[in-house]
Amino acid sequence: MEVTRKLSLKAAQQVPWSSATSLLHEKDGVRRAWPMLPCLAAVLLIGLLGLYVWPSGRSLLGEDRLKAWDPQVKAVGSAAVAYPKPKATSQKQVHIFVCTDEYDLRPLAVLINSTISNAMHPNRLHFHMVVPADRLFTREYLKSLFPNTHIEMASKFVDIHEVNKHITFRNDSGARKELISPYNFLPFYLPEVYKDIDRFIYLDSDIVVKGNIEELYNTDLEGNAAAAVEDCSQRFAIYFDFAQLAEIQAREGPDRPAWLPPEHFDPEACVFNRGVLVVNSKRWMEENITRAIIWWMDEFQKSKRNLYKAGLSQPPFLLALYGKHKVLDGMWNVRGLGRPNLSELEREYFFNMFSMNYTRKPFVSPFADTAHILHFNGAYKPWKGKRKRESTDDIISLCGRKERGLECAELWWEYLSPAANDFLKPFAKKDYSVEE
Ligand SMILES: *[C@@H]1O[C@H](CO)[C@@H](O)[C@H](O)[C@H]1NC(C)=O
Ligand SMILES: *[C@@H]1O[C@H](CO)[C@@H](O)[C@H](O)[C@H]1NC(C)=O
Ligand SMILES: *[C@@H]1O[C@H](CO)[C@@H](O)[C@H](O)[C@H]1NC(C)=O
Ligand SMILES: *[C@@H]1O[C@H](CO)[C@@H](O)[C@H](O)[C@H]1NC(C)=O
Ligand SMILES: *[C@@H]1O[C@H](CO)[C@@H](O)[C@H](O)[C@H]1NC(C)=O
Repeated sequence: MEVTRKLSLKAAQQVPWSSATSLLHEKDGVRRAWPMLPCLAAVLLIGLLGLYVWPSGRSLLGEDRLKAWDPQVKAVGSAAVAYPKPKATSQKQVHIFVCTDEYDLRPLAVLINSTISNAMHPNRLHFHMVVPADRLFTREYLKSLFPNTHIEMASKFVDIHEVNKHITFRNDSGARKELISPYNFLPFYLPEVYKDIDRFIYLDSDIVVKGNIEELYNTDLEGNAAAAVEDCSQRFAIYFDFAQLAEIQAREGPDRPAWLPPEHFDPEACVFNRGVLVVNSKRWMEENITRAIIWWMDEFQKSKRNLYKAGLSQPPFLLALYGKHKVLDGMWNVRGLGRPNLSELEREYFFNMFSMNYTRKPFVSPFADTAHILHFNGAYKPWKGKRKRESTDDIISLCGRKERGLECAELWWEYLSPAANDFLKPFAKKDYSVEE
């Protein structure tokens, strides 16, 4: 049964234009592909698609029930009451949040497609996209590509102006300007807003999921508020001014909040990346993690010299969750794939730990071969480059052991068909994430 489901889901993704409600334009090139398929196979695929969409599709994948999660619908009133909360099945639901204000929908399409393509039970996955209010309509476009997938847009659940008040950009702090978007900070507010979701996965939008996401969801958090991947090729020392941290920790009285650890932060502590998180909402709230992150953001704002030397949302997250996180298997966040080069520290790390002697450029990720999640953090996003690299173009990053490494971007494009790319690309034009 599962095999049939997966197969037919694939079929559904490949023939979105067979749906009457599909918004996908019928491109000539796409149409012409059909006569090349054996007739029988086409009939079989459509049959399977039919089986998948009805009757089970309507009951199992009923979208209405999901609306209970949407704060906007809740505000309307009756809709939420009409649909009882799922009980027996709720344990099996896998909630995945993504927060983004990027106009380009292609990263979301790749994130969804890769996740469902590699999931054991794609029908259990619930994608919650936190996007600006004027982007709510884009759900229809994603749904037309993935008609059998639960996709909800959540918006305006937190006051963006309130978040912005705590964000400070300093042009001398080593952070990239585009990191200033409040959507980079929204994941930290999710447990507060979605109190009725006990556990969720947060994913950055520049991600390809290659593993079975249910496995990640079922991680034993061992009482911690969150789980994240630790990366010892980066240490706390690169992020913070430790003299200032010590001054802050030396405070006494009402200026010293409960979440400030008594022991000094260790400059040698490994960095854990905020791009892939498993969160226990209740623990997160009990530990005051959101408040602690905001407090650290305000400390940065107040600091005379730069308290943080890199990043914007990563540093307060690191301080607030220090010693309070479970460490995930590194394969769940193989990061840096959007970076053009390795740092000296990373080169040393690869040499000392694995006897790998890499040059500075291009960036190399030897673990990408076995990654469950590929993370394209860095300035070079695959969707901003070419689908096919020309021989004269620079390779930005290499994935896999060097001798058989692929250009990382190729691994991203695998999950976006040329037709889906043509369909979604027009939305990429207006990107206000930097100016806003
Ligand atoms: C940073 O901004 C200040 C003014 O806010 C300006 O004087 C300075 O030149 C800028 N530095 C860089 C490196 O852009
Ligand atoms: C969280 O904040 C509340 C209210 O300020 C406080 O009573 C509690 O002790 C804090 N918990 C932790 C773990 O810091
Ligand atoms: C390599 O990356 C570092 C940051 O990790 C950056 O400071 C440096 O400018 C980069 N060098 C080149 C040649 O791209
Ligand atoms: C690493 O390789 C470079 C040549 O690519 C070589 O010059 C260097 O000595 C090597 N380093 C070590 C520590 O083996
Ligand atoms: C989703 O990914 C699969 C596997 O790589 C691919 O065959 C398919 O065309 C993709 N679907 C879309 C809508 O891009």
